[in-house]
Amino acid sequence: MKRAANHDVLNLTNIRKIFFAGTVDKVVALNGVDLSVADQEFVTVIGSNGAGKSTLLNVVAGVFPPERGGKVEIQGDEVTRLEEYKHARYVSRVWQEPEVGTSRNLSIEENLSLALLRGRPRTLKKAGNKKRRQIFREALAQIELGLEDRLTAQVGTLSGGQRQALSLVMATISKPSILLLDEHIATLDPRTAQTVMDLTEMIVERERMSTLMVTHNMEMALRYGKRLIMMHKGKIILDIGHDQKKDLKITDLIAAFERAAGEEFTDDNVLLSC
Ligand SMILES: Nc1ncnc2c1ncn2[C@@H]1O[C@H](COP(=O)(O)OP(=O)(O)OP(=O)(O)O)[C@@H](O)[C@H]1O
Ligand SMILES: [Mg+2]
Repeated sequence: MKRAANHDVLNLTNIRKIFFAGTVDKVVALNGVDLSVADQEFVTVIGSNGAGKSTLLNVVAGVFPPERGGKVEIQGDEVTRLEEYKHARYVSRVWQEPEVGTSRNLSIEENLSLALLRGRPRTLKKAGNKKRRQIFREALAQIELGLEDRLTAQVGTLSGGQRQALSLVMATISKPSILLLDEHIATLDPRTAQTVMDLTEMIVERERMSTLMVTHNMEMALRYGKRLIMMHKGKIILDIGHDQKKDLKITDLIAAFERAAGEEFTDDNVLLSC
């Protein structure tokens, strides 16, 4: 695939998104976001409720275009106004609810086949059933939950954690240019959340995925990834690179927020939930 000269996988320029424009309910969800993500960069995204995190991922995934004047480029291709299904060759997603990413009435292998069909690469699409099964088994074996021996099991019989782990495999098996994780461990119990987060890190590192991971949890945002961005009121107010991030504590992050936002940090959700 064509590569951007600067090897950025994602370039967002002047992204604005307004809902209910021209009415009293008008919401400026994104208010001029510029963001470049380098190839293989793992970025965590944090911010309080309504900051615009999911809207940002929706724009990258092509759920809706940004307002005029904004530009979305993935792998150097301008995709700003492409339909969502055309973004599928570039972008994969894991949502908060395991039910959204997987189909409960289909088997594990049927779910994986669908995931394969929606993206790249063509060689995998053309693979015969036997070859596909082998690919699925290998991908599932790496997450060490024993799912490789349950290819024909209905996904509805899996636990939430197993389904989220399967969602991750589904999202990465087609080798997207960029992986979008939107609070994908938030509905899991703390132990399962940790397991799925460890799997996430393993898959992201092994597949060298360029990743945007939204989390409410400051500790997670600091512990994982190589860069942290914080959103507030539709803008990126902090962008912290690896060297600075690795020694940062939650109290430092709160102080940085207060300096950047010019207001007191009051969102307990960001501290307490995952
Ligand atoms: N599809 C939509 N239609 C109308 N308003 C929307 C839509 N999506 C988001 N919004 C509004 O845009 C603002 C930003 O929402 P968004 O979901 O991006 O926030 P968030 O940072 O993901 O918050 P949370 O942490 O609660 O998930 C909110 O005021 C929200 O109500
Ligand atoms: Mg959200």
